[in-house]
Amino acid sequence: MEGSQMAIKTVGVVGAGQMGNGIAHVMALAGYDVLLTDISQDALDAALDTVRKNLERQVSRDKISQSDADAAMARIKTTLTLTDLGPSDLIIEAATERETVKQAIFEDLLPHLGPETILTSNTSSISITRLASRTDRPEKFMGFHFMNPVPVMQLVELIRGIATDQATFEACQEVVENLGKTAASAEDFPAFIVNRILMPMINEAVYTLYEGVGSVKSIDQSMKLGANHPMGPLELADFIGLDTCLAIMNVLHDGLADTKYRPCPLLTKYVEAGWLGRKTGRGFYDYRGDVPVPTR
Ligand code: CAA
Repeated sequence: MEGSQMAIKTVGVVGAGQMGNGIAHVMALAGYDVLLTDISQDALDAALDTVRKNLERQVSRDKISQSDADAAMARIKTTLTLTDLGPSDLIIEAATERETVKQAIFEDLLPHLGPETILTSNTSSISITRLASRTDRPEKFMGFHFMNPVPVMQLVELIRGIATDQATFEACQEVVENLGKTAASAEDFPAFIVNRILMPMINEAVYTLYEGVGSVKSIDQSMKLGANHPMGPLELADFIGLDTCLAIMNVLHDGLADTKYRPCPLLTKYVEAGWLGRKTGRGFYDYRGDVPVPTR
């Protein structure tokens, strides 16, 4: 490769949650050596388990061969020591969606990074320019935003901060192509493209419920059968996590200072209750039985 651009071979993934394990999965399947880190060994073990199950699902549906799955699994290593990721060619931070958490991770990592390491965040809404400005390499920093479920969704949003250089963008774009996915280039404004459009729709669905226009069932059915969405908006909100949906609405509301983005009080209420969707067993649906049951 020419200029400051280098071939990316090793990828460090910070955070082994829903997004982190999916990112490790697709990177390993595409042939990258992956080092996955988290603060808890249980989270790392659970992530490897999830990747194994999702690879098996792809094998059973003839999407990939058993030897592809085995090779991918063998390419994923885990560590509890964040700084072990320092020498990676590319780092994708997929930790909790809180700016203080992400900033602390970058601060710990920075002294250990190789000079050429590209640093990225899977943030769904935090300013890339601001995150980048607090690192020693704003020109090698960008947003690398996957959609959930990562192994299935075709899109990756690539977000350039004000200082991101072209070589960094192109290196990340090449990685996305190697994953067999499509990159959409988004400017660094609140919630980028997908969530700028998706979250107000979900928030409006919650208002529709709050104002009694429809029930959980009728709202989801309407959008599935009437607009051909694969999931209804409330089912999708539960899938994404209601805390994440609320956090993104707050970023839009604060960042664009427009009342059209005000989060629905009912969404706030569910989050206050700890009913965050699938991950806590309850949200707009109750997932604790055999089939999801609407909670309103
Ligand atoms: N890993 C690997 N494969 C998976 C998988 C996973 N985690 N989850 C599902 N799949 C595969 C299945 O194996 C199946 O493959 P085939 O088509 O080859 O058979 C396919 O995906 C469909 O799965 P299912 O038949 O089990 O279920 P489904 O048809 O109901 O589809 C879905 C599930 C793909 C999740 C679909 O409901 C969907 O597309 N939902 C919308 C998802 C969406 O909008 N995501 C974006 C959220 S926004 C976001 O992520 C951004 C943010 O920052 C918040």
